[in-house]
Amino acid sequence: MKVVAIIGSPRQHGNTEILAEKALKAVSEEGIETEIIPLAGKDIRTCTACMACVKTKVCSIQDDLMPIFQKMKDADGIILASPVYYGSCTALLKALMERTGYLSRFNGDAFKGKVGGPLVVARRASQVFTVAEIDLWYHILGLTIPGSSYWNIAFGREIGEVSKDIEGLQTAYNFGKNLALVLKKIKA
Ligand SMILES: Cc1cc2nc3c(=O)[nH]c(=O)nc-3n(C[C@H](O)[C@H](O)[C@H](O)COP(=O)(O)O)c2cc1C
Repeated sequence: MKVVAIIGSPRQHGNTEILAEKALKAVSEEGIETEIIPLAGKDIRTCTACMACVKTKVCSIQDDLMPIFQKMKDADGIILASPVYYGSCTALLKALMERTGYLSRFNGDAFKGKVGGPLVVARRASQVFTVAEIDLWYHILGLTIPGSSYWNIAFGREIGEVSKDIEGLQTAYNFGKNLALVLKKIKA
């Protein structure tokens, strides 16, 4: 079994990645393979509504998305992690959600039955809104979201600051444990 975590921050090794590492630590402790997939530095453009994927099952845009979609398709679990940008997830993650959502749909609901959920970090506000925003993607595509001990949010501004948010890190860890538990039950 494998769980991938997509990091929607344009900053390398930032707070979002630290939070996702904590969740993946819990997952790997349960003997499940994990991989971090940072979107930082990648060319991920927004959906153009060309509808080519309906017929061809691949995206017509020539950028870095298709190999990431393949990894998401091959995984049993998908975590989407994002910092809050102006009250929402980053444009980078939203672009990935738009296009992989349609790709999943037109590849026989490829994400249906997978397990996962959001992880969100911000300096001050809108983490819960952003969790709810990303939850919508999971729900419409037929994935299952395990719970944690709190909503999957944490606080931090400068790179590394999230490490001081003990409850936030613990919530991510508990989410990872529950994700592994649900995956093991589904696959048993
Ligand atoms: C363009 C931009 C917009 C932001 N908007 C918000 C916001 O609406 N609310 C908030 O609390 N923090 C906001 N922040 C702060 C980031 O969410 C915060 O620094 C976060 O830790 C960044 O995660 P990273 O280290 O993974 O990039 C914003 C940061 C940037 C660069």
